[in-house]
Amino acid sequence: MNAKVRVMTPRDYAAVMKLWRTTPGMGLHAADDSRPGVLRFLRRNPGMSFVAFDGPLLVGAVLAGHDGRRGTLHHLAIAQTHRRQGIGDALVARCLRVLARQHIPKCNIFVYGDNTSGQAFWLHTGWAARDDLRVLQKPTAGSVRKCKAC
Ligand SMILES: CC(C)(COP(=O)(O)OP(=O)(O)OC[C@H]1O[C@@H](n2cnc3c(N)ncnc32)[C@H](O)[C@@H]1OP(=O)(O)O)[C@@H](O)C(=O)NCCC(=O)NCCS
Repeated sequence: MNAKVRVMTPRDYAAVMKLWRTTPGMGLHAADDSRPGVLRFLRRNPGMSFVAFDGPLLVGAVLAGHDGRRGTLHHLAIAQTHRRQGIGDALVARCLRVLARQHIPKCNIFVYGDNTSGQAFWLHTGWAARDDLRVLQKPTAGSVRKCKAC
């Protein structure tokens, strides 16, 4: 692997976004992946997200963070031209190392059900599918249920 990996900074946003936009299977979110959204994530999880460069060219990126209990990786993407060179593995390894240093014992990822190639990468690199769990989700604003005791 010739690429250099370093911590993602706010100045990387435009190049990272360009990579994500051109990578199928990213599932970009208008607010979360806007500049303020990504910068907020980086501020909340300092030094945990990484980028890979081939010379001046950004060729890989991943967001990582944790909630004090479990880590989560988002949007791992490697440029088509630079795949199968160990760069994805290297970015993930950096994230896991930082999470472990912060005493986070396990890390989760979310992969779209139809992203078979992404799933194959995770399984090949030692991640285990939790078939006993399902992801449930709810917006935080405007959807609070009227509860009897509130
Ligand atoms: C998935 C992805 C990040 C892999 O990045 P990469 O830099 O090509 O992966 P690496 O070269 O580090 O591969 C590490 C190992 O996984 C294997 N691997 C890589 N892609 C694979 C795939 N699609 N299927 C099976 N194995 C794969 C490699 O052969 C290598 O195995 P080895 O160490 O035994 O030789 C990249 O293909 C990508 O950006 N895909 C599109 C975005 C995506 O799906 N991201 C995941 C979203 S959750």
